[in-house]
Amino acid sequence: MPDLSARAQLPGFTDSLTTGLLWLDDFLRFRYVNPAAKTLLDLDGQLIRSEPVAKALAGNDTFFAILERVRSTRETVTQRELLLDVGLPDTRHKVTVDCTVTALSESEEIPELLVELIPLDRHMRISHEAGLAQQSGINRALARALAHEIKNPLGGIRAAAQLLERKLPQPKMAEYTRVIVSEVDRLAALVDKLLGPARPATPVEVNLHALLDHVARLMGEGAGPKILRDYDPSLPELMLDRDQIVQALLNLAKNAGEAAGADGRVTFRTRSLRQFTLNGVRHRLMACADIEDDGPGIPPDVRPKLFMPLTSSKPQGSGLGLSIAQELVSRQGGLIEYTSRPGCTVFSVLLPVEAADAHASA
Ligand SMILES: Nc1ncnc2c1ncn2[C@@H]1O[C@H](COP(=O)(O)OP(=O)(O)O)[C@@H](O)[C@H]1O
Ligand SMILES: [Mg+2]
Repeated sequence: MPDLSARAQLPGFTDSLTTGLLWLDDFLRFRYVNPAAKTLLDLDGQLIRSEPVAKALAGNDTFFAILERVRSTRETVTQRELLLDVGLPDTRHKVTVDCTVTALSESEEIPELLVELIPLDRHMRISHEAGLAQQSGINRALARALAHEIKNPLGGIRAAAQLLERKLPQPKMAEYTRVIVSEVDRLAALVDKLLGPARPATPVEVNLHALLDHVARLMGEGAGPKILRDYDPSLPELMLDRDQIVQALLNLAKNAGEAAGADGRVTFRTRSLRQFTLNGVRHRLMACADIEDDGPGIPPDVRPKLFMPLTSSKPQGSGLGLSIAQELVSRQGGLIEYTSRPGCTVFSVLLPVEAADAHASA
């Protein structure tokens, strides 16, 4: 006899696991899919209960071979670094998982199956991103030190040029001193950008959706690429520095708009992530804002230094947008990560929610 009480408990505690769980009946149909598996396998929004797993995960022959093996032998099988093709035809992509399949009963003719899927991409990506964020921190420190060195004499040069202007014998010669002043001002503005926002974060309660709408307005919504919204209404308010988060989101949105082009599409999407570990800290709840575009994707040669200052593939680019955005988000305890392929680039801003919780209960 299958242990029905254990089965009945399965959905309860598995909701908050980061491991994806599939419970398949004896016809290999979904009996239960936990939220982590839905996200991992891109099953969100599809009717999955009682649907054959073969339909949702078509084309994954290795995976089905494992299921069949466990059904016939009842041995538990673990396959490391299994590559799965997931998603709907237009959002098809690959995920890497450690996969364990267990037969759920001893006695029935054909056993039901429990499939555990541990996502590896996210772990690999996050440690990679954390490395990048750290590297970008070091580079920013260097850029900052350099910027200070450049900025100090600029004031002197500007003042001297203005003084000189007043002493010039012919007023026409002032053209030259004005070039000096305007170039000094341009350099000073660039240095200010390099120095980044100086003031520390002052968190206030903010609504991420209101901020994203504000960013859409700043982007000149209506004139450029089409901006679509896919907001998770259950997202709680967050405790963040409003200006700094707007700046970070705007930098990402501008890049997305530039990549998508006037005829392209940019999507602002929000969702909440449960039990998420970031920089070694486990968060009960995190908010995620995705900024997606249908542009050509991030050039491969740019990727290794994407978040470093002065990295740009654009003729007029400052290469500061992403490094500043990453710094601003990390100041709020968050992280920016990305995935990119031609036609779909997503920058995800992960932000902790706890602070707002603590605030609410105080
Ligand atoms: N959404 C995107 N799609 C494609 N490439 C991107 C995207 N966002 C950033 N990039 C790449 O990253 C580089 C750095 O971006 P950023 O730091 O904002 O500097 P800038 O926009 O001034 O070039 C860009 O030049 C571009 O090559
Ligand atoms: Mg930019």
